[in-house]
Amino acid sequence: MMRVGVLASGGGSNFQALVEALNAERSAAQVVVLVCNVPGAKAIERAKAAGVAVEVIEHGRFGKDRAAFDAALVEALKQHRVELVCLAGFMRLVGQTLLSAFPQRVLNIHPALLPAFPGMHAQQQAVSYGVKVSGVTVHLVDEGTDTGPVVAQTAVPVLDDDDEQALASRILVEEHRIYPEVVKLFAAGKVKVEGRTVRISR
Ligand code: GAR
Repeated sequence: MMRVGVLASGGGSNFQALVEALNAERSAAQVVVLVCNVPGAKAIERAKAAGVAVEVIEHGRFGKDRAAFDAALVEALKQHRVELVCLAGFMRLVGQTLLSAFPQRVLNIHPALLPAFPGMHAQQQAVSYGVKVSGVTVHLVDEGTDTGPVVAQTAVPVLDDDDEQALASRILVEEHRIYPEVVKLFAAGKVKVEGRTVRISR
């Protein structure tokens, strides 16, 4: 069983989707801890309701010392013997301290088809640009912003009357589907990373 740690800052709907899809008996992967940097985030409530351990690590405590924040994240994850880290609406950049502790085992989900619309407000960026298709990307995290090797993508249509909220909701439905699927592939040892190319054997 692969032990999964989820890092979230906000609503935690992806956290919830991962828990619901994975925390069944005899599942090959299981969410064992939520690490949250925002006290009072809804994700924390969800974890408590689901009986998943919670670690709250406020980034503000570390000032500008990002390595120290990362080290605290690593310590919490290691305490729970996490093997795969899933960023799910985690609104902080992670650096080498965390990445080298989990080589090629840190995933992120982004609400656009990367490399289009990286960074914040990806859904608003898509609406403002006027693209007809956007979507979801699950990728390995590297030191850039949304630049790591792509593991999986799903397209989502952008409708003429979409605003940020309407598009975000349509994209979230796909996020909740694709993220657990990718985690299961990792747990099954079906993901091979060769440079920027991620191969999935099915
Ligand atoms: C999701 O749409 C996720 O893709 C996005 O934040 C939302 C979190 O929702 N992440 C980013 O924009 C990262 N740059 P959730 O807290 O309900 O899972």
